[in-house]
Amino acid sequence: MDTSASTVPQPLAHPFLKGQKALVTGANSGIGKATAIGLGRVGADVVVNYVAGRDAAEEVVREIESFGVRAYAHEADVSQEDQVVDMVSRMVKEFGTIDVMVANAGLQRDAPITDMTMAQWQKVLDVNLNGQFLCAREATKEFMRRGVVPEVSRSAGKIICMSSVHQIIPWAGHVNYASSKGGVQMLMATLAQELAPHRIRVNAVAPGAIRTPINRSAWDTPEAEAELLRLVPYRRVGDPDDIANVVAALASDFFDYVVGTTIYVDGGMTLFPGFATGG
Ligand code: BGC
Repeated sequence: MDTSASTVPQPLAHPFLKGQKALVTGANSGIGKATAIGLGRVGADVVVNYVAGRDAAEEVVREIESFGVRAYAHEADVSQEDQVVDMVSRMVKEFGTIDVMVANAGLQRDAPITDMTMAQWQKVLDVNLNGQFLCAREATKEFMRRGVVPEVSRSAGKIICMSSVHQIIPWAGHVNYASSKGGVQMLMATLAQELAPHRIRVNAVAPGAIRTPINRSAWDTPEAEAELLRLVPYRRVGDPDDIANVVAALASDFFDYVVGTTIYVDGGMTLFPGFATGG
């Protein structure tokens, strides 16, 4: 199945992020890719971060450039402090500043607790949680240095943390992943409280089941998809563009008074669907 085929309308032709500079981590596939392209479509210049898969990242860059905005690919492992520092400082050199940090990069290393190795635990925490901390910290330094530029945005900067429904839904067999996303929720909320007086908006987007490589086995056969849809009241698997559209809106001044919130984009997965017929 072609995971890039989207059924989601892309009505956001107005360049409402024109002049803003965005960085999206993990932007060469899945939700990150759709988000980087979505931000370019509405006028932002975009840095496409990736850790492996340069060709895919360059393809995302070309697609973004087709909107008449600037983009380049940057290889960096978000869990490595020096690489994140270099990535943001290069962006400030090339684009002048950063307005939107989308801390998206994430991965799963699933195992029942008795089989889970320390390496599996550590890797997921390193990328999903430590990586978001580093990206938020480096973006914040530049937001504070520059402050608000009213012609660009009402805020001094936006941090959007890619979380998951598993920041609140426990997930057996995925304790590393669920713990990392629970951590992301508190990282986001605490930074939102700390940084709001600086006019920096920190929020999160929490996707449910989105059709991407990370969860291919959950949707790539009719049986698996039917099973998955029992957990989705809206009865469709999400597309990466469902997330990209929300991130673009959240990054814009239409959402300027939204601070410290998680927007669930999950077709109702967090509504305890098991209770629709029981309880
Ligand atoms: C996970 C997916 C999963 C979805 C819903 C996401 O955060 O990465 O593998 O399908 O949550 O359970």
